[in-house]
Amino acid sequence: MGGEERGNVAYYDALMKRFRRGRLPLADGGGLRRGSQVTVLVDGQSVVAFEGESVAAVLVAQEGLATRMTVNGAPRGIFCGMGVCYDCLVVVDGVPNTRACMTAVQTDMRIDRQSGVSSHS
Ligand code: FES
Repeated sequence: MGGEERGNVAYYDALMKRFRRGRLPLADGGGLRRGSQVTVLVDGQSVVAFEGESVAAVLVAQEGLATRMTVNGAPRGIFCGMGVCYDCLVVVDGVPNTRACMTAVQTDMRIDRQSGVSSHS
């Protein structure tokens, strides 16, 4: 990749710059396959997602890592990624306190970053 040797800092810096925004590229010709493309609404914006992805994955692929704001205005996001910490709460199709990491995207799903406790817009 770009002439850097695997294992040195420049290699990983270049790798992180490449993956900073958006989804990780999948290798061609076998291995991991992405699901069918679907469209969801994230905070009112139409976003491309893929069947099999979690809502958390869709949010990470967008700008900003915060999934919600606490009642004190502190941002929270994906922490454990396995349904334990409840830091990733979002509003899905009007249902507040939905764990983004445990919810699979579906076509036309509406996802809103949550503000405060169990509030929704
Ligand atoms: S990231 Fe911990 S419950 Fe979702």
